[in-house]
Amino acid sequence: MTSGVLLIGASGLAREVLAAGIRGVAGILDDDEALHGTEIDGVRVLGSVADAANREESLLACVGSGAGRRTIVDRLRQAGVDESRYATFAADSARIGRSSDVGSGSILLEGVVVTAHASVGHHVVVMPNCTITHDDEIGDFATLAAGVSLGGTVRIGEAAYVGMNACVREGLSVGADATIGMGAVVLADVPNAQTWAGVPAAPLRGGGLR
Ligand SMILES: CC(C)(COP(=O)(O)OP(=O)(O)OC[C@H]1O[C@@H](n2cnc3c(N)ncnc32)[C@H](O)[C@@H]1OP(=O)(O)O)[C@@H](O)C(=O)NCCC(=O)NCCS
Repeated sequence: MTSGVLLIGASGLAREVLAAGIRGVAGILDDDEALHGTEIDGVRVLGSVADAANREESLLACVGSGAGRRTIVDRLRQAGVDESRYATFAADSARIGRSSDVGSGSILLEGVVVTAHASVGHHVVVMPNCTITHDDEIGDFATLAAGVSLGGTVRIGEAAYVGMNACVREGLSVGADATIGMGAVVLADVPNAQTWAGVPAAPLRGGGLR
């Protein structure tokens, strides 16, 4: 495999990954043709997302929503791009305990701490200064916005979104595709696909990011 990584999505997240010091970026792929040939923070937009199938660099889906990342990964899988093509990026200031693991496609930005025996799935985005503690399990395509704190043995479901500075009490689960509002204090299990917010967190009528 050719060295280097392609960022997929000319997004705010891509700019954050660049700012966090990722090395070896060969370019950005984005379906907005108006961006092709332009530069984002010094990195050229080389072409469309589908071009990833015809290149050899590693890939990193830089789309803020887990559903968006899942769409890209599914699309590229249908074009023959398998999971082994995806890189993992952790900022130098992120600290990952040696008994914890982080899956391919995942992005850990500045100041993230992952302590003991935690498992971070594939294509997860963990924004700056999140704390993931012992035995936590973060499902594929989940997103933790800046400053999220998880107690021990918390499960975050696939493609769930946890808003800025929310915290989840130890032992609880946040369901797949659920949304937790910024600043929430989660004191009970959150079912799949629901939006909860507030202190203590409770279901938000009709709310949600998706
Ligand atoms: C919870 C959230 C998803 C709801 O978004 P929404 O569906 O657009 O909801 P609205 O902004 O229309 O607000 C609906 C109601 O919920 C309240 N509300 C919204 N967010 C809230 C929050 N985080 N905590 C408490 N109440 C909240 C609003 O005040 C409003 O109350 P009202 O009906 O009494 O007026 C959103 O506010 C949120 O917290 N998103 C996370 C943002 C984030 O972390 N961004 C990081 C970007 S990197």
